Amino acid sequence: MKAVILAAGKGSRLFPVTRVVPKPVLPLANQITLQYAFDRLKEIGVTEICVVVGETENEMKAALGDGSQFGVNLTYVRQTEPKGLAHAVGFTKEFVDGDSFVLYLGDAIYSQDLKQFADAFRANMTGNLSLVKPVTDPERFGIANVEGDRIVKLVEKPKVPESNLAMAGLYFFGPEIWDVLPDLKPSWRGEYEITDAIQALVDQGQTVIAGRYEGDWFDTGTLDSFLETNHYLAKGQNVIADDATVEGAIGENVTVGAGATVKCSSIEDCVILPGSVIETTGAIRHALLGGSVNVNGDLVNSIRHGDLVE
Ligand code: DAU
Repeated sequence: MKAVILAAGKGSRLFPVTRVVPKPVLPLANQITLQYAFDRLKEIGVTEICVVVGETENEMKAALGDGSQFGVNLTYVRQTEPKGLAHAVGFTKEFVDGDSFVLYLGDAIYSQDLKQFADAFRANMTGNLSLVKPVTDPERFGIANVEGDRIVKLVEKPKVPESNLAMAGLYFFGPEIWDVLPDLKPSWRGEYEITDAIQALVDQGQTVIAGRYEGDWFDTGTLDSFLETNHYLAKGQNVIADDATVEGAIGENVTVGAGATVKCSSIEDCVILPGSVIETTGAIRHALLGGSVNVNGDLVNSIRHGDLVE
């Protein structure tokens, strides 16, 4: 089995930091975000991985290389425009080359291993097995109607959800997916949806299984969720690189990358990127900061990259 990781999004909710460092390679507990994905994939024996990249292709390649430092073998393909998850998958047909594959959304973090789902899928290697998890805000997700262990209907971001089971960003596919992709039409939001591709498999009578995932599942897309994920992965500890310097009172959930220097009155609930120089007369709280930032006063609810030239 192979893997496809989608990492061609713009990361716009973490601008301007993600204009300089793409979201999938931002550090969480001082480890590149995608390293957690590689570890989950290695646990299920998958090391041949295709990363779908977009505008930040060069930065992604610089950060990840051929994958050998993470114990995986990486291939890159470029999605011309971010026109949806199914559109992105379409670029990986040559890489997958008739094999089965697991599709992993680049901003997802799973607290539990994926072995039971890989085993359940490997039992037949055909159709689809998708992780689902109950959510309290189903209108933000692809939503599945499930009967027994089968997915019988899917709707992307429903206005009136028929279930609270969200598609949780991890999907196993057999080769049938390649037959349905060419016939997909853009959704109301103008994207080629992976939920529509899976619905087409259901309509064809393929085996489409719901894998009920019971662990924690994080998505790093916003400042709140990014810092919450960092807190979780750091196991509630502060993670300050050996060669980083922090002057100021240190509170909870502080991660400071290698070679960074921070001067402030106090710091709490923050991720500081490697090599940054952050100076403020006030407090730093609830922030993701990089580059060189020098301000008078507090840096609160802030996403800043000081080297940015706009
Ligand atoms: O998080 C789970 C949800 O992910 C599912 O419940 C939905 O069914 C699924 O459509 C997806 O919804 P989002 O709208 O949250 O997806 P998002 O646009 O955030 O993209 C997910 C990842 O895929 C992200 O890492 C960027 C990447 N991506 C996205 C698009 C639209 C691409 O590589 N290419 C693209 O064209």
